[in-house]
Amino acid sequence: MGWTKERLEDTVRQQLGEAKLVVVANREPYIHVEQGGEIHCMRPASGVATALDPVMRACGGVWVAHGSGNADRLVTDDQDRVAVPPEDPLYTLRRVWLWQEEEQGYYYGFSNEALWPLCHMVYARPRFSSDDWRQYVQVNGKFAEAVLAEVGAGPAVVFVQDYHLAVLPRMLRDARSDLVVVQFWHIPWPNREVFGVCPWQEEILDGLLGNDLLGFHTQRHCNNFLDTVDRALEAKVDWEHFSVTRGGHTTRVRPVPISIDPELVRSYLPADTAHAERRLRRRLGLRDEWILVGVDRVDYTKGIPERFAAVDRLLYQHPELRGAFRFVQVGAPSRVAIPAYRRLSEELEASANEINRRHAQGGWRPILFIKQHFEPEQLVSLYRMAAGCVVSSLHDGMNLVAKEFVAAREDGQGVLVLSRFTGAARELTDALLVNPYATDELAEALYAALTMPGEEQQRRMTRMRKRIDEHNVYRWAGRLLTEAGKLADTRSPVGASL
Ligand code: G6P
Repeated sequence: MGWTKERLEDTVRQQLGEAKLVVVANREPYIHVEQGGEIHCMRPASGVATALDPVMRACGGVWVAHGSGNADRLVTDDQDRVAVPPEDPLYTLRRVWLWQEEEQGYYYGFSNEALWPLCHMVYARPRFSSDDWRQYVQVNGKFAEAVLAEVGAGPAVVFVQDYHLAVLPRMLRDARSDLVVVQFWHIPWPNREVFGVCPWQEEILDGLLGNDLLGFHTQRHCNNFLDTVDRALEAKVDWEHFSVTRGGHTTRVRPVPISIDPELVRSYLPADTAHAERRLRRRLGLRDEWILVGVDRVDYTKGIPERFAAVDRLLYQHPELRGAFRFVQVGAPSRVAIPAYRRLSEELEASANEINRRHAQGGWRPILFIKQHFEPEQLVSLYRMAAGCVVSSLHDGMNLVAKEFVAAREDGQGVLVLSRFTGAARELTDALLVNPYATDELAEALYAALTMPGEEQQRRMTRMRKRIDEHNVYRWAGRLLTEAGKLADTRSPVGASL
């Protein structure tokens, strides 16, 4: 039987029984911002938030996250809580407030200037600062306090997300040995030599071994993690059962690739797609050219310069395509306080201008670079009108844009060009798989996308859609939470002590 939100809801109810479900992630699923005297609720450009919101809508519970919007405090109650989704509340968002220097050290500094480049092998040098590390540990402690307050004295399953919270599981385990703590690491885990340059690798590994269960997207990431532990810590690594025992506590390590809710993506599709396409084309100043689309946060792991270079190459190799297609790149501004991100954004603008100048023809320009965050409704319309979607990450844990594009193509048309260095490439083998570092290969794939016969598009798209319908986010959550539920059965609460 396939996984649906109803099945997940039932499974969670049965498996978790009395235990509360508390999700912890740095990024919140809904951000309140004040603009022109009005409060707007936005959904962030984050794979984690995109994947988990439908899970929480199905299961209920509490999501603990950093309150990062400038109007976040205006809508929370005296316990820092707000019910979400705002239009139809189904779960609770509990916001954690950070001081500016905490956000600087924990989020911008250690999470995104040390761990992010460390785990993505894209030749960006990590920056390790002991001040950032101190803030990172302190903020993990703040999250621990909020989680323990939400848990109360009863049983609970705490589901921790990603690299911002690597030392939180140990803190929770020390405070409440009865809690079931599960973590999913949404980015790659590099090999042990790479991870070994981190001055606090032991503390990070020890923190993660506070989990009962630790999930990664691929078997390779699990292997790398076990190998890193084997080299760096006193612990018993069991390669047969994929687990690590340290200080009497066992952590299981599992590959569980994340996904999306294809139904939810489809629910954003407009009733009249042709009309929506005309409106979007008009708004973006597009004529009736073929459209290739890229949608990313402006991040140096996403291979956006490589994509632009391939468009340039394509137009030299196939000058007949001038005037015939446009490459629309939606780039959501991201982590702009970090110099490497600001530089990339400037570099992309300069590169798009230069390529546009080189190939201009009348009013036509090949690249439309929109530095803006699009809400899901706009994104699905864009996916629907594209001849193809290009995901050219240099390294990516999964990449959910690839899956969203496929889910949006109810018409069975459209071609996905996908980097081999994404987790998604292991599942979406009917995409045109490419090495984004190889400009000729990427340019050829763009050409193939623009010229692929409709029948072949249909064949490939049908298989990819089937895969995503079956391997959806409810299956991902169901597998992790079922295992968590079994563990919860064996624990009895020992009362709060932090
Ligand atoms: C990646 C990370 C997420 C993060 C997202 C957006 O997908 O794995 O944890 O939320 O990027 O980045 P941001 O820094 O804006 O949360």
